Amino acid sequence: MMGDLADKYGPLFTIKLGVKPALVLSNWEMAKELFTKNDLAVSTRPKLVAVELMSYNQAFVGLSPYGPYWRELRKIVTFEFLSNRRIEQLSHIRVSEVHTSIKELYDVWRKEKNESSFVSLDMKQWLSHLTFNMVVRMVVGKRYFGVTEVEGRDKAKRFMENIKEFMRLIGTFTVADGVPWLRGLDLGGHEKAMRANAKEMDNLLSEWLVEHQQKMALGEQELILGGTDSTAVTLTWAISLLLQSPHVLEKAKEEIDLQIGKDGFVSESDISKLVYLQAIIKETLRLYPPAPFSSPREFTENCILGGYHIRKGTRLLPNLWKIHRDSSVWPDPLEFKPERFLTTHKNVDVRGHDFEFLPFGSGRRICAGMSLGLSMLHFVLANFLHSFEILNPSTEPIDMAEIFEFTNTRATPLQILVKPRLSPNYYETL
Ligand code: HEM
Repeated sequence: MMGDLADKYGPLFTIKLGVKPALVLSNWEMAKELFTKNDLAVSTRPKLVAVELMSYNQAFVGLSPYGPYWRELRKIVTFEFLSNRRIEQLSHIRVSEVHTSIKELYDVWRKEKNESSFVSLDMKQWLSHLTFNMVVRMVVGKRYFGVTEVEGRDKAKRFMENIKEFMRLIGTFTVADGVPWLRGLDLGGHEKAMRANAKEMDNLLSEWLVEHQQKMALGEQELILGGTDSTAVTLTWAISLLLQSPHVLEKAKEEIDLQIGKDGFVSESDISKLVYLQAIIKETLRLYPPAPFSSPREFTENCILGGYHIRKGTRLLPNLWKIHRDSSVWPDPLEFKPERFLTTHKNVDVRGHDFEFLPFGSGRRICAGMSLGLSMLHFVLANFLHSFEILNPSTEPIDMAEIFEFTNTRATPLQILVKPRLSPNYYETL
């Protein structure tokens, strides 16, 4: 819908969210002018009702106002968890979780395979469990939050439900975000749901919050929220796109077979050799950026952008989804063509300097977990494609309907068929 408005009103237009204006930005030229010349003026996050209620009143680094508190927290989070050195140190956790998930799936296949030797898999769920376990173990140091395995698993399940609901609600503009004096009425009942979500999260994390220094615990909690969903959602889109484009899937498998062989394990250091796989990840992030409107920001000063005066207090919604589908930059913009990142768009990088491609945002508030996110995306996809054949169970094309919440998720589950593609020995030694 915002894409249609951009076609009609151009790359910069404002919408009114109640009394608050919001600037929707939809092309790379404006993104460049904004994130280079005006970034400082738009480096704060708006205090939305959802943010106030579900992030301990803007205490999360990703949602906090620009200033000394944000700077300190971002430093802690980056240094403790997300620096390249730390990511490397925690490599064994990613390896162990990926191997465990593959082994578990292999065991399910052995027990439940059908006459054509396939087993049905809920891809969205498998990927959410895997990324959740990886992030929790990297951040908290343990697999589940419970005294016993059963209690832990139960809590993990509730936590994953909680994250899903958090992502839905955090993307919800309440009436009171636009018309503050209507807040008492809680029209639509969103505030009630937000309070319930925050309370459930508090309950789940209470013992852990007591165990940890408060700031550290907040940082940890937020990384689980920020890191799990975006990664799982992107990988689910990648698998959907591959099932839709069998020739791309074949090429990806050929590359893995050539570089890794049929017996070996894909290690993180192998990823640099898998250039086609890297192009698949980029092309997935182009078509389905998991945060299609990035994360909202707010102007703290009056600015001039594209010749227009933008007033202090205006909110900013960068429409990454639209920027990534601009036909003047991306020929055949709606087609899944990873090859473009090896040829015509070879030098376009994800790291926030190429303004036609901004899946992680740009400027001071660029995604703090970009390196970790990229490591997980490549490592999980490479291992999954190496270990299993995948098949669309239906003769119908894959349903690509999207739901635009804070993250851009598939509207329907992704139920697919899988079977092992390597020798039993490979799975048994995982
Ligand atoms: C597929 C992977 C991911 C994508 C595409 C993604 C995308 C984004 C985007 C678009 C933003 C807003 C940037 C802006 O305002 O310019 C963001 C912020 C953020 N992301 Fe990510 N993200 C991913 C994974 C992760 C991971 C794995 C973590 C941590 C474990 C993480 C932590 C954060 C944090 C803390 C912020 C807030 C930064 C701030 O406000 O200072 N993200 N991310």
